[in-house]
Amino acid sequence: MTIMTIDLFRPATLAGMILQNRLIRSATHESLADGSGAPGAAHKKLYTALAEGGAGAIITGYAGVQQDGKSSLANMLMINDDSLIPAYRKLTDAVHGHGTPIILQIAHCGRQTRSAVTGRPTFAPSPLKDFIFNEERPQELSEREIETIIGSFVAAAGRARKAGFDGVQLHLAHGYLLAEFLSSYTNRRRDRWGGSIANKFRIVSEILRRIKAEEGDYPVLAKINGYDHRRGGMRPLEAVEIACLLEASGCSAIEVSSGTVEEGLSIMRGPIFPAEALRASNFRFKSLPTAVKKALAPLLRLAMPSPKPWRGYNLDAAKAIRQAVSIPVIAVGGIHTLENITGVLDSGTADFISMSRPFVIEPNIVRKLQEGRQTASRCIECNYCAIMIEEGPLRCWYGKLPARQPA
Ligand SMILES: Cc1cc2nc3c(=O)[nH]c(=O)nc-3n(C[C@H](O)[C@H](O)[C@H](O)COP(=O)(O)O)c2cc1C
Repeated sequence: MTIMTIDLFRPATLAGMILQNRLIRSATHESLADGSGAPGAAHKKLYTALAEGGAGAIITGYAGVQQDGKSSLANMLMINDDSLIPAYRKLTDAVHGHGTPIILQIAHCGRQTRSAVTGRPTFAPSPLKDFIFNEERPQELSEREIETIIGSFVAAAGRARKAGFDGVQLHLAHGYLLAEFLSSYTNRRRDRWGGSIANKFRIVSEILRRIKAEEGDYPVLAKINGYDHRRGGMRPLEAVEIACLLEASGCSAIEVSSGTVEEGLSIMRGPIFPAEALRASNFRFKSLPTAVKKALAPLLRLAMPSPKPWRGYNLDAAKAIRQAVSIPVIAVGGIHTLENITGVLDSGTADFISMSRPFVIEPNIVRKLQEGRQTASRCIECNYCAIMIEEGPLRCWYGKLPARQPA
């Protein structure tokens, strides 16, 4: 046990970057960007705290590669224009001042967004309505539109490099556009972008090939779903094949997650149902009269399940993937105690651990674990942070909204 604790806090190499330890801040949307999608002073403050607090590396919240791929959540980072580069440069300089690598997660939200927010139609590989974002049917992407999206990811990687990021992470998880291509549940295409695994993976392999052609050996990481709970969706065996294709296409490291937004709280799980936060923030629910809200409350629980297990739920998939590839594997999802972290590394399940919610409540959680001040995160996994970012900047609510001020 003691030996593994030393390993955890010993410098390690990930995709050519030197990390001071094996604990990474997983991508976490902060709702802090300005109207153009640029990071500002609040980002700098948060990321500086994460770096000072000992995070081995920081993966940013998802950054949109084009306008129609913007999140329906407020104030998403964007990386769709060169004019954003100077703002990102301030952020990377601040983090590098602490010797911490920083990776930009790049994404297109696909059908998991709303035209009312993006001002554009929503797009997907196939025109299937989403259970949550069901106001409109997404349009099926044409060949030309797929080419445009590939170009946007490649341009985003180029901008990330110019802005000083140590690498980019392709968001291939959680039901966003590239995950929609990889999953047979959302990809029903019969052309060269659907059907076989090679076809479903084609958009990702094209992005990787063209980033390599334009940016050389610039590190490109990927976050994938080891599985989801959709009928005909992702399963660990297919995820292993995708991981092998990623490695063969030059991907530098794979973070293994699971779930889609449509599945409720399956990406970030926990024992507490965040009813109060959902009632306060859900864009449809919050405008209803109180009596209707109360009557509908039980339905929310059905619509937003948090399947068990609540901890370490991606570890079987991570282990299977690690056995199949030789690039580093990062495990994420409910790995919040020192015992579990060292157990994952010790058992050869993954090479690195990433966490999201523990950094929300304690940006300096790594330092605390390293100094022996704590043996676990104080996060209670209430998921109020994940729900309330629809309303404003990321923060820990610790399972309770403040009492309403009298008018
Ligand atoms: C508030 C919040 C925002 C998130 N934003 C992102 C994101 O932008 N990109 C992403 O890949 N995952 C995102 N996630 C998922 C986390 O990266 C992580 O996969 C998940 O929370 C499980 O890890 P944890 O148990 O350590 O929180 C977010 C999670 C939370 C709680």
